Amino acid sequence: MAPSEKTPSAAGDLRQFLNELQDEGDLLVIKEEVDPAMELAAITRRVYETEEKAPLFENIKGRQGDGLFRVLGAPVGLSRVPDQRLGRIAKSLGLPSTASGQDIIKKINGAKSLKYLAPVEVDIGPVKEFKLFGDDIDLEALPTPLLHQHDGGKFLETFGMHIVQTPDGSWTNWSITRNMVHDKRHLVGPIIPKQDIGQIYQMWKDKGEDMPWALCFGVPPAAIMVGGMPIPKGVDEAGFIGALIGKPVEVVKCETNGIRVPANAEIVFEGTVSLTETGPEGPMMEYHGHVWPGQAKQCPLFKVNAITYRADPILPICITGRATEESHTVWALMIAAEVLTICQSAGLPVKMVWCPFESHAIWYVIQVDRAKLVSLKTNMADFCTKLGHIVFGSKPGWYMGKVFVVGEDVDPTSLRDLIWAESTRCEPGTSEFLFDEYGNIPLIPYVGHGVKPERNHKKVVKCCMLPSEFVDEELAWKVGSFRGSYPTDVQALVERKWENYGFGPVRD
Ligand SMILES: Cc1cc2nc3c(=O)[nH]c(=O)nc-3n(C[C@H](O)[C@H](O)[C@H](O)COP(=O)(O)O)c2cc1C
Repeated sequence: MAPSEKTPSAAGDLRQFLNELQDEGDLLVIKEEVDPAMELAAITRRVYETEEKAPLFENIKGRQGDGLFRVLGAPVGLSRVPDQRLGRIAKSLGLPSTASGQDIIKKINGAKSLKYLAPVEVDIGPVKEFKLFGDDIDLEALPTPLLHQHDGGKFLETFGMHIVQTPDGSWTNWSITRNMVHDKRHLVGPIIPKQDIGQIYQMWKDKGEDMPWALCFGVPPAAIMVGGMPIPKGVDEAGFIGALIGKPVEVVKCETNGIRVPANAEIVFEGTVSLTETGPEGPMMEYHGHVWPGQAKQCPLFKVNAITYRADPILPICITGRATEESHTVWALMIAAEVLTICQSAGLPVKMVWCPFESHAIWYVIQVDRAKLVSLKTNMADFCTKLGHIVFGSKPGWYMGKVFVVGEDVDPTSLRDLIWAESTRCEPGTSEFLFDEYGNIPLIPYVGHGVKPERNHKKVVKCCMLPSEFVDEELAWKVGSFRGSYPTDVQALVERKWENYGFGPVRD
């Protein structure tokens, strides 16, 4: 059936996203009762690790009827549907499920040159179907899953979007950051000063008022992708999301403050973030697959004054840990797209940037445009030094540990290609350029738990290109592979007769 004018897009509407996943065989509705005390999380973890269908848990022990809430696991996990491993990422951005990594980065960055479409306010939306206020709210009674056995509490917020606004209303930030249940009326979570939510929190501190806040679950899939993207300070995520979807996001006003939230969100918590009250938070299993059990840290309390939600609401969650979960498919991938823009805006000859999921948001592969590179008449040391300063000195640079520079014969989205290029072309010491003038996110295990440096922890640019690639237009070598070692007519013959020889279909 052709989508009608009225059919919302999957990128703009979670329920449509789920309908399409179901049609494609990439969603599993689980009606059997599951225990939120780890069974639910363990299922979801296994789903990430086997690239299985996204589980939608409808029958969670302790859930009140069809109220708060159903849970969607692995909303942007990888897929085992043939030819659509990146399908959930692609669909979240309005692309066909068969899109490649290159298509995905192109789509994100293509929207940057479109007109940003500010959200439009509507009077009513599905998220206003049910409302709870004040003492009717009991966060401890919700069937919040315990995500990992060594977590310091139950994390309700792992894949929802916080919305905060500067005191003068000139800048609204939509972003993802975790929150744990603290008591009946409070969540607790870190606010990192370097992040935009931290900058805005500081403005409220300077004013001496608690920060009005909303936390929205089940927002348009494109919105949650952008919520995990380090876009430049002062830019409203909402306008960019409108450009990405091709239509402004519809928003409704909160019940208890002036924040506007997506009208088709599943659940919205609204309230204030305290300037003075804190509570113990964490630890929580991190995006790099390690947790150091033990001490909690004091973090600000988020007071919930109202909850609004739609019928049979859905709470999307991310079970952090070893790849591949949403820290990798959303955060790292959106960082990669942003780094491509930063390189290109600085005039660097860069074609593509990617984060191999297996690197847990720490490695970034930067592919050069060789014709442009050669025309610059530069060399490896000058180029990599310049690139390192530009990339590591940028807003996303703080999260990035290691950069790999590759040529055009290496597909940056292929770990096999990257390992081949690094092992064969990157000479220890000679092709590696170290930087210690830029900080690192302390969550990286070798930063927070490694050898203490004399100055700062280092970052590295590893050049996986040979010196001749900076000078010669033509590559001087030929590649030993099916594609590289045989004429095209022989390749075509073998492909045509492949199954006649008795082989099965080729898998990548
Ligand atoms: C699934 C997921 C979970 C995340 N959790 C956190 C978190 O707990 N704390 C945090 O500081 N950033 C977290 N992030 C990263 C931020 O959302 C990201 O850095 C974002 O760009 C910050 O927003 P800003 O551009 O407004 O500073 C997470 C991202 C994703 C995709």
